[in-house]
Amino acid sequence: MDTYLQTDRVTLRRFRADDADLLIELDSDPEVMRYLSGGEPTAPGLVRDRILPGLLTAYDRWAGAFGVFAAYEKAGGAFVGWFCLRPEREGPLGEVELGYRLRRAAWGSGYATEMSAALVDKAFTDLDVRVVWGATMALNRPSQRVMEKVGMTVTQTLPTPEGMQAVEGAELGGYRYEITRDQWERQRAVRL
Ligand SMILES: CC(C)(COP(=O)(O)OP(=O)(O)OC[C@H]1O[C@@H](n2cnc3c(N)ncnc32)[C@H](O)[C@@H]1OP(=O)(O)O)[C@@H](O)C(=O)NCCC(=O)NCCS
Repeated sequence: MDTYLQTDRVTLRRFRADDADLLIELDSDPEVMRYLSGGEPTAPGLVRDRILPGLLTAYDRWAGAFGVFAAYEKAGGAFVGWFCLRPEREGPLGEVELGYRLRRAAWGSGYATEMSAALVDKAFTDLDVRVVWGATMALNRPSQRVMEKVGMTVTQTLPTPEGMQAVEGAELGGYRYEITRDQWERQRAVRL
């Protein structure tokens, strides 16, 4: 079964071996890549030879529980980008990273918040996760707002990763956001 998760407006499914063009097109928008590479597109060869095969292998590594998943609008079926929920490569399965990268045409519609909230719920409900974390550059306010709106808070300031010195605001570093299972349960009790 390819479908990983659905919300009211968005479906997440596994990437497939012939999806390279979706990823290449997504990463070719300088605005999408602004806080990731300083606007540089990802080389198509890298997507085809390394990135996409790596995403497919990861589904098996984590038995389908975690990974990077393609996001589609339910109405009309347009590809809108991707979301990830995944442990670090050799890290504990109870600590997972939330991430997202959406096509510019889909920004501002609330999709990132809607799906991130559903992923956090899934992590704590179905996947025995203890903490969901995310990292973002200090200037990337849209990304920070998404994490804040799903109940995550800043736990650490981060140095800019190696290779990202060309990104605007690199001198400001970034933030690590987290939500623990206990925090999520307390927030859920207030919502109910
Ligand atoms: C981060 C990203 C997924 C957010 O997508 P989105 O569709 O705009 O997200 P949402 O609509 O759910 O929410 C965005 C929030 O950021 C706010 N926002 C957007 N641009 C902003 C800006 N320049 N300054 C401050 N807040 C901003 C929005 O107002 C909204 O918050 P609100 O509901 O409180 O008003 C999207 O911008 C993206 O794909 N960026 C490129 C890739 C990227 O940077 N990924 C994250 C790497 S850490």
